[in-house]
Amino acid sequence: MGKWFETVAEAQRRAKRRLPKGVYGALVAGSEKGLTAADNLAAFDELGFAPHSAGLANDKQMATTVMGQELSLPVMISPTGVQAVHPDGEVAVARAAAARGTAMGLSSMASKPMEEVVAANPKTFFQLYWVGDRDTMAAKVERAKRAGAAGLIATLDWSFSYGRDWGSPFIPEKINFEAMYRYAPQVALKPSWLWSFAKTGAIPDLTVPNMVATPGDTAPTFFGAYGQWMQSPMPTWEDVAWLRNLWPEAPFMLKGIMRVDDAKRAIDAGATAISVSNHGGNNLDGTPASIRALPAVAEAVGDQIEVLLDGGIRRGSDVAKALALGARAVMIGRAYLWGLAANGQAGVENVLDLLRDGLGSAMVGLGHPSITEFSKDDLVIPAGFERHLGEDSAHSPGTAAGAPTQQEKPAPR
Ligand SMILES: Cc1cc2nc3c(=O)[nH]c(=O)nc-3n(C[C@H](O)[C@H](O)[C@H](O)COP(=O)(O)O)c2cc1C
Repeated sequence: MGKWFETVAEAQRRAKRRLPKGVYGALVAGSEKGLTAADNLAAFDELGFAPHSAGLANDKQMATTVMGQELSLPVMISPTGVQAVHPDGEVAVARAAAARGTAMGLSSMASKPMEEVVAANPKTFFQLYWVGDRDTMAAKVERAKRAGAAGLIATLDWSFSYGRDWGSPFIPEKINFEAMYRYAPQVALKPSWLWSFAKTGAIPDLTVPNMVATPGDTAPTFFGAYGQWMQSPMPTWEDVAWLRNLWPEAPFMLKGIMRVDDAKRAIDAGATAISVSNHGGNNLDGTPASIRALPAVAEAVGDQIEVLLDGGIRRGSDVAKALALGARAVMIGRAYLWGLAANGQAGVENVLDLLRDGLGSAMVGLGHPSITEFSKDDLVIPAGFERHLGEDSAHSPGTAAGAPTQQEKPAPR
């Protein structure tokens, strides 16, 4: 079997074959019943295309900018925590993103220090969770600035929902004897995964080196950091504005926006970009698919802020659908994690190539030589597809007049 794969679905199958059950389970994720994670995928399937028969596009202009960075395609790497999937983790992902001309979000819960990741791809945005107090947050921003990060992503939507009907995977606090013993039956079935680490002379490391203010300081374990985070008071919108102003010259994204009113608050807080996102369905289960919330948010904010989307992107046609509904670009999570698991850096490049090719096919079929030409006219959108979450305030420009609020809609998911 060659290592190249022709779809993200195949990368997922290979990841499942290669990874210990618990590691694979941690990637699939999805909270509670998994309604939101499932809807993130189902919603893309509900959208159809309205292709042309002749006069199709010859050119495929996909380049764009996001938060001041030039991207060769409208797809970025979304930040994801602890990539014990592969020994090179986020560094391999950063190299792949750089090789394909795109940017990356690096998680606070990542397994590699930001300095190494930025060296591999200068188009790296550091993603912050609100952990600790303002001084702690300021020290982390300072480290990101010194490391040469291209800007910040704040993810504040995490709601600590942990129960999973399908059973949460066992994630060890540390890879020690006890963990090895509990993991042993799973790992014994997946020797190639362990071998990939053994070759490097290392065992999977579950510490989070970006949770300390000074590079090289003793990093907490994933669960140690998670405990601190759970004890931190939730940030207010004033905190968001404060965080944004710590490094005013740099671009700042607020990730995890689902509501029109929150999108407007993000503008007020001075954000450069938002990502319409429900954290890949890992948060409050029952939140609708992010793609359903995208059109209302994009219409409400106009060009006051860059609007991205993440959640459920598995193919290039999904990227086209998101652009047609108002996204400037998308971010991917599981798709690249599966590519990383399947074939390291080359697997992530493979995923980005598949998305590029699929987007190219959509451009040809829809007759658009440039990604700027996508619009709702390209899509078959079933009645009731969209979800308008949150209130439009009367004074805000660009508001869709008379749009029903979510209370008036039939049972949003
Ligand atoms: C295993 C896993 C870990 C994640 N960790 C983070 C994280 O540390 N920070 C963050 O902002 N988002 C995190 N996310 C959410 C992703 O950035 C992104 O919003 C989501 O994966 C997009 O959905 P998709 O996986 O369907 O592409 C994580 C998602 C997954 C699946």
